[in-house]
Amino acid sequence: MEKLLNAILCFLLLMAVDCWPFGEDPVTVPNAPVTALVGESVILPCHLSAEISAVEKEVRWYRFRNNKFSIVLSYVTKKSTLEIQDEEYSDRVNLFIQEMEKGNASLQMKNTAFSDEGEYKCCVISDNLHCKNVKLLVPVSLNITENVNAILGTSIILPCYLDPKVSAEDLELRWQKDGLATSVLLYKNTKVVTEEQHEDYRERVYLYTDLRKGDLSLVIEDVRIADEGKYTCSVKAVTQENEGSLYLSVSVKLKTSESTCLSEINKNVILPCHLDPAVSVLDSEVKWEKKGLTSPVFLYTNRRVALEEHHEQYKERTQLNSEDKRTGDLSLSLKNVKVTDEGRYTCSVKAHGREIQASLDLSVTAQGGKPAMTVDEEPGNVKLKCISRGWYPKPQLKWTREDGSAVTEYSELFEEVEHDGRITITSYLSIRDQYDQKILCIVQLSGSKERAVSSIINSRGRPQHFAHLVALICMILVLCYIIMCKKGYAQIKSMFFELFT
Ligand SMILES: *[C@@H]1O[C@H](CO)[C@@H](O)[C@H](O)[C@H]1NC(C)=O
Ligand SMILES: *[C@@H]1O[C@H](CO)[C@@H](O)[C@H](O)[C@H]1NC(C)=O
Repeated sequence: MEKLLNAILCFLLLMAVDCWPFGEDPVTVPNAPVTALVGESVILPCHLSAEISAVEKEVRWYRFRNNKFSIVLSYVTKKSTLEIQDEEYSDRVNLFIQEMEKGNASLQMKNTAFSDEGEYKCCVISDNLHCKNVKLLVPVSLNITENVNAILGTSIILPCYLDPKVSAEDLELRWQKDGLATSVLLYKNTKVVTEEQHEDYRERVYLYTDLRKGDLSLVIEDVRIADEGKYTCSVKAVTQENEGSLYLSVSVKLKTSESTCLSEINKNVILPCHLDPAVSVLDSEVKWEKKGLTSPVFLYTNRRVALEEHHEQYKERTQLNSEDKRTGDLSLSLKNVKVTDEGRYTCSVKAHGREIQASLDLSVTAQGGKPAMTVDEEPGNVKLKCISRGWYPKPQLKWTREDGSAVTEYSELFEEVEHDGRITITSYLSIRDQYDQKILCIVQLSGSKERAVSSIINSRGRPQHFAHLVALICMILVLCYIIMCKKGYAQIKSMFFELFT
């Protein structure tokens, strides 16, 4: 009676306590939990003492879950109709029948699932019920190694996989971003739970694929600068948990369409600089600096242009080309360009604790005036002077003859920097005094087609146009003579007669 009572009690409690009041314990199981890899086979060891060889006995494996017992496997001589195997285990579990004589009542389980984790009972029923608990653990392993970089405004996948890639449908999955109290995405009880989601990610994130493929990757759409940071992918099976992290960096570039800008003096120039992709700088700091200057040439901060910070040489001369701060156009408009504006400019944007920069060079040119030429005569030598003002950078000066051939005589070149940085160039050419051809002084910037030209004739020579003039007068005289001869011959003749007769 007592035995029976004990048996019933044991059966009801199913080994909340191990029940063996009679001497040697007939069931032996390992003390430590058994660990199984998901998807693989595992043996839950259970050994019966020789006195109760398993063959003649009834062996049952139970599982306690959700407050009730289910039968994993039962080995009985006479099958009772009451014994219905849990569906989850049909075709997945077996005993080693050949080994049972030796008391081996171990359970082999194939294709272990995360949900298999828990307490199992190995029970033998002879004249009594003897049970022992075996704990099965199914650890979760993740593969999350890559850091990812997203271009602002695009979509990005944050990769996270189960290792091995088995179904994660039954698991709880949480994507969390460092510094945020609520989750980026929470998947629980086979559904994505949106109640707890951080508002910044609402309707912007989803799971990349079917969780049945073991892929826990998260997609973030329309990536923002604020999305940058450390993300943790954590999964929880029955009791086993695991997590891994990755860093998402968000890139935005500053681009200058040209590396060098060219401007003529006194003109206005635009120094190009764009955010790629285009993003609002309304709440950012935008700064233009020139190499060598301590204060900026332009500064926009706290939603206003900080005129008082501008370098005095640039006061009232700089502004952003675009009024709209949301277009990503940070091009600088520089008015009334001076020679001293030449140099390297850097455009920079600071937002969310990050600064990006781009640089370009500004080159300034100034087309100078028409050269002035003078002649300085000395006995046996003529010195020609050619002077031209207002050039930048230093121009080229050459002396040529009218026919374009170079003058090979000795010349000297001098240059002088004017107060505004422009250059005056002067050249002296010494020639022999009998030189009678036109001499040209040509000044031009290197690489430019525009030329400033003046010419001069050596007054001591016989200027060709004077020779032409003489020829012309002679021709007119001859012409007059011929006309007079033809038309007024008679009259003249009569005049002569009157005079001399
Ligand atoms: C039971 O038999 C299996 C298969 O031969 C063996 O792997 C296992 O170790 C045995 N278990 C015990 C407790 O003897
Ligand atoms: C983790 O995932 C990467 C990329 O999918 C793969 O190349 C790598 O072999 C995986 N590592 C492990 C340990 O599974």
